[in-house]
Amino acid sequence: MKKQRLVIVGSGSTYTMGMMMSLIEEKDHFPLKDLVFYDIDEKRQERNAKATEILFKERYPELDSFSYTTDKEEAFRDADFVFVQIRTGGLAMRELDEQISLNHGVVGQETCGPGGMAYGLRSIKDMIELVYDIRCYSPEAWILNYTNPAAIVSIALKREFPNDHRLLNICDMPIAIMISYAQILGLDVWDIVPEYFGLNHFGWFTKILDKKGTDHTERLKQLILDNGFKPEDKEIANDVSWQKTFEQARQIMIDFPEFLPNTYLQYYFYPEQMVEKEDPNHTRARQVIEGRQKRVHNLCDRIIANGTAQGEKELHVDIHGVFMIKAAESLAYNLEERFILMVENNGIISNLPAEAMVEVPVILTTNGPKPFSVGEVPTFYKGLIENQYAYEKLVVDGYFGKSYMKLLQALTLNRTVINVTTAKAILDDLIEANKDFWPELQK
Ligand code: NAD
Ligand code: G6P
Ligand code: MN
Repeated sequence: MKKQRLVIVGSGSTYTMGMMMSLIEEKDHFPLKDLVFYDIDEKRQERNAKATEILFKERYPELDSFSYTTDKEEAFRDADFVFVQIRTGGLAMRELDEQISLNHGVVGQETCGPGGMAYGLRSIKDMIELVYDIRCYSPEAWILNYTNPAAIVSIALKREFPNDHRLLNICDMPIAIMISYAQILGLDVWDIVPEYFGLNHFGWFTKILDKKGTDHTERLKQLILDNGFKPEDKEIANDVSWQKTFEQARQIMIDFPEFLPNTYLQYYFYPEQMVEKEDPNHTRARQVIEGRQKRVHNLCDRIIANGTAQGEKELHVDIHGVFMIKAAESLAYNLEERFILMVENNGIISNLPAEAMVEVPVILTTNGPKPFSVGEVPTFYKGLIENQYAYEKLVVDGYFGKSYMKLLQALTLNRTVINVTTAKAILDDLIEANKDFWPELQK
């Protein structure tokens, strides 16, 4: 079995330690030769790197080398796989995105509504630059991108790199939801065979089967309606905000019982209630800074101070890491395993635009993703998706064309905004807040 050289870009991320635990868990299936961290923030990276060094000495002694750097050539040379998880502008800009939206009475969220647009316009520039740099030193490496807003990033990357077939965009929300389904059904999550369609953070499960072909869909729906719905993945199970989000997904099922929704649809279906629930002085970004980020930083500081990771209760495998690594395994060793991820539509959903980046089940092979056909989707979903895709495309058009008007059109289409006067006011505030990140727009 060929051993891999893996590069983690944005290695200062709050998800890195979970990813490291997942690499340890999967080492027999996805064996590493070398692991390289790359980040632009030396300090943020160093904390995770020093803790990883100690952890790997204890639990991954087979590894030939582990290194960390802020030098692109050193990082990207001869890679087999590159996982990208960057956040341009950091959590500080996420907080501003959320607050600006909420101050105008609109959903303030990382990937949905104006916050998603603002973040998208920041991510696109860095992601394009990174892909050029990675390709300069590793033309054949698989690039697996988690960077949000993945829906918008995937459209922009497809436009800039139309022939790059080793560049995939991936989201852990469908599999995180499937962990809860598995728990309810008494199945292993990897035995679940989902049927699903939509855009990233904007999709529906149409069927839940198991590997033997048994259809559990109706039983699952009934169990959720009767007994409730909650997050089960370790990273989010105890998080109050995620618990409320899963409860709200149950409400969507009461209102539209046809399919099982992606949790992110709550922001588009109940925007006013979502705004009411939020405190602009304690948005999700602040909760993450005081929650996940603090937990991970304290964990790393403890490991470094103790010189050992033994006995650490905060260290755990999470689905975020395992999902990315299992996808990489399937690509590397032609396992033909099934995953839900983003690909160009090209007729998969036959009544939606060919060039849309849709989120659907595929099998992953050494030749990349092979999608399953979805066919036509019913009018309600078609209408919603066309509207959302038009919004996403206009954001990307606005970026490439540096166009104020396209961004105003985008926000006007977005179900969380609609009102043009509100759209203008939010856009003007976001332009001011994002001066250091966005292209200069022409009116
Ligand atoms: P974070 O801020 O903790 O970590 C991001 C890291 O990226 C930081 O260390 C930062 O210094 C670094 N960085 C920023 N710009 C960079 C650049 N140009 N090159 C290299 N490094 C750079 O963020 P986080 O909360 O851990 O999330 C990381 C990313 O993963 C975000 O984009 C987040 O939205 C995304 N994410 C996506 C999914 C998904 O389902 N697709 C799931 C979880 C997280
Ligand atoms: C899910 C989504 C991601 C999102 C993450 C964290 O996994 O799929 O796209 O970044 O949740 O969200 P949070 O609000 O907890 O930072
Ligand atoms: Mn996601």
